[in-house]
Amino acid sequence: MKIIEVQHPLVQHKMGLMRRKDISNKEFRELVAEVGTLVAFEATRDLETEDAVIEGWAGPTHVRRLAGKVTLVPILRAGLGMLQGVLAALPTARIGVVGLKRNESTLRPDRYYLNLPARMAERVAIIVDPMLATGGSTIAAIDQLKAQGCTRIKGVFLVSAPEGLRAVEAAHPDFEVYTAAIDDRLNEMGYILPGLGDAGDKLFGTD
Ligand code: PRP
Ligand code: URA
Repeated sequence: MKIIEVQHPLVQHKMGLMRRKDISNKEFRELVAEVGTLVAFEATRDLETEDAVIEGWAGPTHVRRLAGKVTLVPILRAGLGMLQGVLAALPTARIGVVGLKRNESTLRPDRYYLNLPARMAERVAIIVDPMLATGGSTIAAIDQLKAQGCTRIKGVFLVSAPEGLRAVEAAHPDFEVYTAAIDDRLNEMGYILPGLGDAGDKLFGTD
């Protein structure tokens, strides 16, 4: 499985700001969006482009444009908080939504919503979620996308745990991970250490 940890200085600096215990919801939201844009920039580096001729100010002009179509797939809820930042890099992308909630006892994701655009098989899908912990939610989202015929699936994350990356790799070795950080480990509650705490709660103010 392709795993890219985006070690850009701006990403590292912003992740450091995001890890502060006393961060406000407002600042957390802003930083999630900002890092989301930077990770999306890296995740789209290898998208195919094609030649096109446009009418420029001085006449016909050769340009390059994106050849493929992209669908962003935020995992509810926390993925919504990162979507705005990813859209800053890909403003014309379509959006499909997967609603998953991790059961706090079993740590298994329960699916409560799915709404994907038509003809997903023709499109590159990019899963958007700040956290990849046990990997269960990511695996469930990839399962749904493959069931719709998707063959090229990437994911953008802020923090990933080594245990979760191993689980996703075992289930879907063709998946591509772009993450701002790979942290140390999971605790006994399935939270990433040092991590960010509960990203959904911080984004939605429900902590
Ligand atoms: C969080 C996070 C991921 C998932 C990661 O969402 O946004 O979707 O947990 O954990 P996993 O890798 O162990 O599956 P959560 O289920 O807490 O829902 P929320 O976004 O509604 O808070
Ligand atoms: N979900 C989160 O929001 N944080 C974690 O550390 C793990 C799952």
